[in-house]
Amino acid sequence: MATGAAVWPLVNQMNASADVQALASIEVDVSGVEPGTQITVKWLGKPVFIRRRTQEEIDAARATALNELPDTSARNNNIGAEADAEDQNRTLDEAGEWLVMMGVCTHLGCVPLGDAGDFGGWFCPCHGSHYDTAGRIRRGPAPENLPVPVAAFISDTVIKLG
Ligand code: FES
Repeated sequence: MATGAAVWPLVNQMNASADVQALASIEVDVSGVEPGTQITVKWLGKPVFIRRRTQEEIDAARATALNELPDTSARNNNIGAEADAEDQNRTLDEAGEWLVMMGVCTHLGCVPLGDAGDFGGWFCPCHGSHYDTAGRIRRGPAPENLPVPVAAFISDTVIKLG
């Protein structure tokens, strides 16, 4: 039986019930992700962006006033629905280094490009939506910020999605 030991992300494929669980949660080793880069993993059939932000990206996101944002909701499934979209409500860690979000444009579902757009974050080329370094929509037809899925560090270098 294949153990999946070399498979990355670290999806447990040992048995049927684990397969079912694997649909709901995966563990991602982020030890190789350098500041200023991101990886994309597939989870629940959709891309998830995991970005390790630079201090400049963090500063840019934190310097943005809420009234500059078309969508002022955090859209973060780890916190309450009433949370606002300030940068601290978007990131996985308090320092704001790690940003995890669904890589699905909130307009019509294209996959936005990283390191792109007028706000230094992501750009969706389908109809021209610009997201900032916190994945918040800033310009274009997309109505909402990129959603943050349930996620947490379960060790210094592994993020669990779901
Ligand atoms: S799907 Fe992204 S802008 Fe339309």
